[in-house]
Amino acid sequence: MTSQERVAWLRDEIARHNEAYFIHDAPSIPDADYDALTKELRALEAEFPALRDENSVSTKVGAPTNNLFTPVVHHETMLSLDNVFDVDELRQWSARVAKTLKADPETLRFVVEPKIDGLAMSITYVDGLLSQAATRGDGRVGEDVTENVKTIRNVPRTLKNGPRGRVEVRGEVFLARDDFLEMNRQQVALGAKEFANPRNAAAGSLRQKDPTATAKRPLSFLGYQLVDLGATSSFTLYSETIRQLADWGFLTASESRVEVGVEAMIRQSDWFEEHRHDLRYDIDGVVIKVDDLAQRELLGFTSRAPRWAIARKLPPEERTTRLLAIEVSIGRTGRATPYAVLEPVVVAGSTVSMATLHNQDQVVAKDVRPGDLVIVRKAGDVIPEVVGSVAEAGKRRARKWTFPASCPECGQPLVRRSEESDTYCVNPTCPAQLLEQIVHFASRGALDIEGLGEQRVAQLLGARLISDVADLFTLRVEDLAGLEGFGQLSATSLVGAIDSAKSMPLSRVLVGLGIRHVGPVAARELAKCFHQLDALAGAPLEELEALDGVGPVIAQSVYQYFREEDNRERIARLISAGLYLTEPTETTGLEATLSGKAVVVTGSIEGYSRDDAEAAILARGGTSPGSVSKKTYCVVVGEAPGASKVAKAEELGIPMVGAVEFEALLATGVWKDSPS
Ligand code: IVH
Repeated sequence: MTSQERVAWLRDEIARHNEAYFIHDAPSIPDADYDALTKELRALEAEFPALRDENSVSTKVGAPTNNLFTPVVHHETMLSLDNVFDVDELRQWSARVAKTLKADPETLRFVVEPKIDGLAMSITYVDGLLSQAATRGDGRVGEDVTENVKTIRNVPRTLKNGPRGRVEVRGEVFLARDDFLEMNRQQVALGAKEFANPRNAAAGSLRQKDPTATAKRPLSFLGYQLVDLGATSSFTLYSETIRQLADWGFLTASESRVEVGVEAMIRQSDWFEEHRHDLRYDIDGVVIKVDDLAQRELLGFTSRAPRWAIARKLPPEERTTRLLAIEVSIGRTGRATPYAVLEPVVVAGSTVSMATLHNQDQVVAKDVRPGDLVIVRKAGDVIPEVVGSVAEAGKRRARKWTFPASCPECGQPLVRRSEESDTYCVNPTCPAQLLEQIVHFASRGALDIEGLGEQRVAQLLGARLISDVADLFTLRVEDLAGLEGFGQLSATSLVGAIDSAKSMPLSRVLVGLGIRHVGPVAARELAKCFHQLDALAGAPLEELEALDGVGPVIAQSVYQYFREEDNRERIARLISAGLYLTEPTETTGLEATLSGKAVVVTGSIEGYSRDDAEAAILARGGTSPGSVSKKTYCVVVGEAPGASKVAKAEELGIPMVGAVEFEALLATGVWKDSPS
């Protein structure tokens, strides 16, 4: 993979995980893995400036909102924190701070406080009265959750001796550990699903459309930032502002300490690591902040985080338990994933009885065997994994575990491709794969068919009512009404949900089809460029490869997909079922004449600023990269063009178009003399 492809892949992955985490409150990977992805992306973007993109997920804080609540534009962007993962990195950060401030590191005042794993919240008070509460959202625009926040018991509705004018208090909404356990006990009692961890439960609780539902959740709020909107107060230290919050009636972190000097600060952050389990709430790190507000001014911000604060991430919590068995599950791509069946154990707030072992090599490397005592962690409090075995003196271990030779679901041989660490069931009719494919097709990020989860899909497959995603659209109420667990009402509502899924935009169908390497970002890009499924399905490989942000790996996979007989047949059936299979144009009202084409502009074009020219190309479905490559469709050469771009276009034989032809190019998508 080239760096460019890797960057595209990373952006896609990160966007997918962001969506899962921020919008669906259902993290798809452990935090540590997520951090590794973003770290790699930033490193690549730093190394190759040409690959930078101001819209890159690496520059964004948080995720877009899902438009359920009214948007609120934050007065000051709600930034994130940069992370360090060990004491060395923490020392390097302190050294940078001291250098910028030209100060002796041992004289710096730091506040060391817990990093609570909850949700950032901004609460505005006017004349001492709570007036608005908003989530962080993407940092710039959040969601109005005022009514829900008013139900949080320890959020003051009025400030004790509050000031006149506007102040904003920021902090974390979270579930204390005991409250979370109690909430999960109630979920179990109600026969409902347990929450994966306190953070997800808190997020879900805040997003309730009905505030009385939020009120039933034992949420808490802890303040850690005062944004003085009237700029009337005269604090000189952050620690004073926190005392002020406490005086107004907010909960603040009682474990926070002011430390003078880097060494004392590090010792205090070690204290948190050691005592993390003794706190009332789950923490995923320690936040270290420069206390002196004047020094903060000098340090300033990067685009996503302040330079005057840092989060020291703590390693994930670990527990030991007994490994009962190792089994293998088959995913929608046929990948066979070994997993551990465990004696249930509480890790980071919830009960774990299964944990992934990733692949064959991992099992071999970890040498875990049924019967072993194993260490389990929930990295990022999300996906449980087995770290390794604990030696037990005098205990006879079982024989080394070996990967099964055949698929546990269909009995066909499992195949390990030579260059990959994964093993696959390559039987295209394997029922386990089919099940997962259909579940994926109906899932939230794809066609979002409510009421069609794993159990229902299994039931429909078992009853032989479906054997492919396209069959869903042929289901009738009377087919379902006879099945166990279905009444007339639920059958009607499922058929209705399937019917409404027909109007989903093309991008969501592309996600649902599960084409290899095509995640939501690539799907949107493809849909935006081609608009119609048949245009995409018939696109030659070169045209796919020429798309910005797609790259040869995705292009090849898409090209291949539409050339396989089974897939063509499935598509034909989706078309005849009446699916929309179109991507609505982003209301520019203009024809997408340049769909999928990369047009480079160099020099100035009369009547257009640089940005205007680019916007005009984008509005017609094209892209306007900053450099010429072999994927460039044409180069528009204006007044005083860049010599290197012209030279490159000549070298690669890319057509050059005069500025006078720009309008015609926009209108028709072709340049004079171009083969149309
Ligand atoms: S300060 C500009 N302090 O961590 C500074 N954040 O990873 C903004 N968090 O968005 C945040 N405990 O949701 C700060 N003591 C603390 C925190 C804290 C938890 C969260 C917060 C923030 C995220 C950044």
